[in-house]
Amino acid sequence: MVEIYYIDIEEEISGLDHDALLGICSREKRMEASRFRFEPDRKRAVYGEALARYMIAGKTGLSMNELIFDKNRYGKPYIRGQQRIFFNLSHSGRYVICGLDQEEIGIDLEEVKSMDLGIARKFFHANEYIYLLSREPEQRMDALFELWTLKESYIKYLGVGLQKPLDAFYFNLEGPSVELHSNDRIPAFIQSCTIKGGYKLAVCADSPGPIRVRQMAVKDIVSDIGRRGLQHMQK
Ligand SMILES: CC(C)(COP(=O)(O)OP(=O)(O)OC[C@H]1O[C@@H](n2cnc3c(N)ncnc32)[C@H](O)[C@@H]1OP(=O)(O)O)[C@@H](O)C(=O)NCCC(=O)NCCS
Repeated sequence: MVEIYYIDIEEEISGLDHDALLGICSREKRMEASRFRFEPDRKRAVYGEALARYMIAGKTGLSMNELIFDKNRYGKPYIRGQQRIFFNLSHSGRYVICGLDQEEIGIDLEEVKSMDLGIARKFFHANEYIYLLSREPEQRMDALFELWTLKESYIKYLGVGLQKPLDAFYFNLEGPSVELHSNDRIPAFIQSCTIKGGYKLAVCADSPGPIRVRQMAVKDIVSDIGRRGLQHMQK
């Protein structure tokens, strides 16, 4: 089962809780975050890695600082030396989200907002653009962001970044379920949903199956980390 946790970077937390999250991130991530000019960008970077470490440690029983994060040549992060644990991160607006599975995974979250359809004409497959034009005007942004997240989740699942042109494959949303048309011949299973506050989420995984999406409060994560730390010390 794909497990997805997300956190709200606008949640009010104490300085101690913030430091606790910083403390479980790698030095590289802390340095990367410190280079961002704006606080929300620093938070997205730190909270993302902290959330991934928290979830992976919970699943594997490894301690959070044993996990070594690496990246493939296109920047997709993975845990070194772990063949049965895969994760992917996304951030948009006020949320940071992490998906975890035992096989390859890609997720994308986007806040639905008003956007020029020209972006779809320029980057999407022609069939997707035609589909967007066929929607009622008030449904178009929803459809645009649904396609956007589906496309990104697939690219993130493949882990190749923008090496894969966005018009090299397309999604058909006319039927009862999402249909991917691609020459990759990879059995990818893609689902899409909406999370609160008008955000589209798409998840691409190796096998079909249930997806559990759960919002976590940062303070609960921190107190859980504290409890686990105590258990480690007591062993
Ligand atoms: C980097 C990229 C993988 C995702 O970018 P994004 O959608 O802006 O960002 P998201 O918040 O969804 O994801 C960022 C996270 O994906 C992960 N990531 C980075 N490179 C990745 C890759 N090649 N494959 C999978 N995941 C990747 C990282 O964990 C990153 O977060 P971090 O830097 O805090 O660790 C890339 O596909 C991209 O630049 N996309 C933008 C394309 C675009 O303009 N699309 C518009 C029309 S669809």
